[in-house]
Amino acid sequence: MLNVDRRKFIQTIAAGGALLAAGKSAFPAEMAHGAASEANPDFKPDVEIELAATPGELPLLPGASTRVWQFKGSLIKGDPAAFQMLPGTALPVIRVRNGQKLRIHFANHLNEDSIVHWHGLHLPHQMDGHPMYAIRPGQRFVYEFQVDNRAGTYWFHPHPHGRTGEQVYRGLAGLFIVSDDEEQAAALPSGEFDLAWVLQDRLFDHNNQLVYARNMMERMQGFLGDRVLINGKPDFVQPVATTAYRIRLLNGSNSRIYKLAWDDGRPLTVIGNDGGLLERPVKRPYVTLAPAERVELWMNFSDRSVGDQITLRSLPFNAGMSMGGAATANGSAFPVLRVRVDRKLAKPHALPARLSHISRYRLEDAVNHRSPRTFSPAMGMGRVSLNGRTFEKMDEVADNEIVKLNTLEVWEFANDASMMMMAHPIHVHNLQFQVLERRADPRFAAIRDSLGAGFLDEGWKDVVLVMPGERVKLLMKFTDHTGLYLYHCHILEHEDMGMMRNYLVRA
Ligand code: C2O
Ligand code: CU
Ligand code: CU
Repeated sequence: MLNVDRRKFIQTIAAGGALLAAGKSAFPAEMAHGAASEANPDFKPDVEIELAATPGELPLLPGASTRVWQFKGSLIKGDPAAFQMLPGTALPVIRVRNGQKLRIHFANHLNEDSIVHWHGLHLPHQMDGHPMYAIRPGQRFVYEFQVDNRAGTYWFHPHPHGRTGEQVYRGLAGLFIVSDDEEQAAALPSGEFDLAWVLQDRLFDHNNQLVYARNMMERMQGFLGDRVLINGKPDFVQPVATTAYRIRLLNGSNSRIYKLAWDDGRPLTVIGNDGGLLERPVKRPYVTLAPAERVELWMNFSDRSVGDQITLRSLPFNAGMSMGGAATANGSAFPVLRVRVDRKLAKPHALPARLSHISRYRLEDAVNHRSPRTFSPAMGMGRVSLNGRTFEKMDEVADNEIVKLNTLEVWEFANDASMMMMAHPIHVHNLQFQVLERRADPRFAAIRDSLGAGFLDEGWKDVVLVMPGERVKLLMKFTDHTGLYLYHCHILEHEDMGMMRNYLVRA
């Protein structure tokens, strides 16, 4: 679908980026490099969007407005619902159906390189927003792809190497919501009863300006803010009616883990996570939401009265190493948002007993089931790594990072090789995986047990939180696309420091 010949691939050597050594390169040279690209006239999009990353100002707090970076865009072609701002916010939402063709013209109006990654989507390498495609200020990148994901709550954010953390922190993120026939058959609450909450913590100075990672310690532990914004808003209150809602949550924070629970002690009913709907609803006393993870809740307010208020809180937990001040450390308790019942609405809605079908991968079908690939995130001495390596060259892959197209593999992430132990939310590009098992080191049981009951390891995932001392095995299948993709820690400061590597899918 990508017409390589049509595109002008202008070789650029990004500052600090890597010059591709022809011949040594792991993938064909014509696929390489940050490039000014053009639309392919043979590609007929159902939806066409103009999307710019641009500096702006928002009135977030009383007093001075806050300088931010924003995605601003407009719909060129397609259903008006395909590109909108979440009502009352500066948060863009792309809504498409599985199978639709998209063309997105990305324009970089920042003063630094950028590129957009479609988190959770299954796309050709050239469309994935790999940092090798980062474009310069003033340049454009044209994405053309067909949506090939089941219904779910995906998202998008910048991915230039070394700058992802700051660009997301300053405001660049959006939701990418996919629907399909199976989801529609589940007849979940829709329209105004389908809500989205993006959780992000931020730190402001006395003049309402955003403060970001000031020193090595704040990068090593992952940057933490002291207040939580929901959809970019402080002190967020969600008005609801006395009926049932579908609520999509994205942890869009750089490094904060949330342990989410209602203050009245009712359990949460979870209907979906990273890769869409679960097979059936599950209940949890609280939900653990690590950076980049999504969860979908079913909330029925029909037994509430007008005037009721319910607070969603993040409960305290043991985060292992946390060097932050007591008020902002990962694991400190705070209110996240309030739900206020403000009108009566007799709109019956039954929670479906069955939501979707998921066929489980089987370990014995994995080509390496006798010898899982093991990857160890590690930190120490101001350095982060995966198996002792960091992300240095755009196209570098090691021998144990090469997989074969159309094979199922088991990958194990072993968080036990570090001088500094902290939980790492591990993300793999290009696919949705299944969590096979977790094995915990009893020495770290207290840390694991303070979050473990909130894990949602069922269903399809693209991020998994690997706790200190834990070894987590994932089953993943590499289909359709060859080329380089990333896997990394989604603590964005760790990613930027190089706790990120390529893997190569080979035919
Ligand atoms: Cu959400 Cu490589 O990232
Ligand atoms: Cu991703
Ligand atoms: Cu990490």
